[in-house]
Amino acid sequence: MSSSIGANSQAPVSPDQKSYNSKDARIKELEALLETISRGKYMWESTFDAITSPVMIVSHDYHILRANRAAAHISKVDVRALIGTKCHETLAGSPEICQGCPLSVTLKKQTPGGCTLEPFQKSERQFAVHSYPLKSSEGEKQVVLYYQDVTEEKDLNRRLLQSEKLAAIGQLAGGVAHEINNPLGGILAFAQLAMRQLEKEHPAQDDLKEIEEAALRCKRIVQDLLDFSRQSGDENMVPMQMNDVVNKIVPLVQVQTRASRIRFESQLATTLPSIKGSVYKLQQVFLNLINNACQAVTTGGFIKLSTFYDKEKNIVCAEIEDNGHGIRDEHLSKIFDPYFTTKKQGEGTGLGLAITYGIVEEHGGSIEVKSVWGHGAKFKISFPAIER
Ligand SMILES: Nc1ncnc2c1ncn2[C@@H]1O[C@H](COP(=O)(O)OP(=O)(O)OP(=O)(O)O)[C@@H](O)[C@H]1O
Ligand SMILES: [Mg+2]
Repeated sequence: MSSSIGANSQAPVSPDQKSYNSKDARIKELEALLETISRGKYMWESTFDAITSPVMIVSHDYHILRANRAAAHISKVDVRALIGTKCHETLAGSPEICQGCPLSVTLKKQTPGGCTLEPFQKSERQFAVHSYPLKSSEGEKQVVLYYQDVTEEKDLNRRLLQSEKLAAIGQLAGGVAHEINNPLGGILAFAQLAMRQLEKEHPAQDDLKEIEEAALRCKRIVQDLLDFSRQSGDENMVPMQMNDVVNKIVPLVQVQTRASRIRFESQLATTLPSIKGSVYKLQQVFLNLINNACQAVTTGGFIKLSTFYDKEKNIVCAEIEDNGHGIRDEHLSKIFDPYFTTKKQGEGTGLGLAITYGIVEEHGGSIEVKSVWGHGAKFKISFPAIER
């Protein structure tokens, strides 16, 4: 018998060597598995965080189990601090469960749900929430909540509705005002003519004066209606300085505030970029806002008018602030409606803010109001700057 050891022949493998090799392969296999798992975890976490809308996994009792970065950003806390807190407390800033929250229905029926929530107190933003059922690996029922920011959309809808309402009422009011204007002119002219023709001491003079004053008052209201209904046009829109408009009306305001012993302060930015607008119309805006402020504060009250430039948004702004009675919460959404007034009959027509709103819109600007009943009101108007 012969034996030969050639180049291809295998060396015998001992049992120890065999078990070592299989352990090595197993470790490699586990390492590869770990790598796959951690890559999967990283992918899932970064996908979760890449979503710019808040997404959370929430338990049946509203505790946050997982949340992405956007949820932390809206809640103004670190993402780790979110876990374990209640979603309505951390996100909405409310001790109560959000009105209309679809979580409980989704848990019960195991179907997706959704609704538009009230604006969050914490971030002052409004969200539509969508809920999806989920089961954890232990079989526990959970819910995925996805929040969609609808603040701008809601605001746009509100503005659109307001513009439509204004346009419809404007058309109607414009037609009526136009018809009234002519006979009113006649009443005024004849009253003035009769006053001139009669002697100064004539007993009818007082009555004629009353007729003249009443007719002039009506003419002012009719003029307001006509201005209100006028279609937008930029024939009088010129580059201008907002401070120039303010400087023209300040002396008028001072007469009014001094007479009512109201403290009036104006704080104007030293330099402002120009805006494009109608001087006459913007004067009307300021006068309407200041008139309202004067009517809201009592003697000894305070009104502040300031102008400034918001560099980031490239807008020129003005604020009119007072410490008067303020606006009730339930009225805040109505004050720009034509004919909405809380004043006694004969004291207000309710057109001031509707006209103001129309003019501001026509100038491509925006108007905001902040008020707490009993603690004054602050109106802010902004217009796009035509230069930086
Ligand atoms: N600065 C303010 N403080 C408190 N309430 C205000 C203020 N500005 C407006 N309002 C409220 O908004 C309502 C509507 O204002 P708007 O200027 O449109 O009409 P008005 O002042 O009542 O009447 P008009 O301006 O036609 O004489 C007011 O009746 C008032 O209730
Ligand atoms: Mg008014």
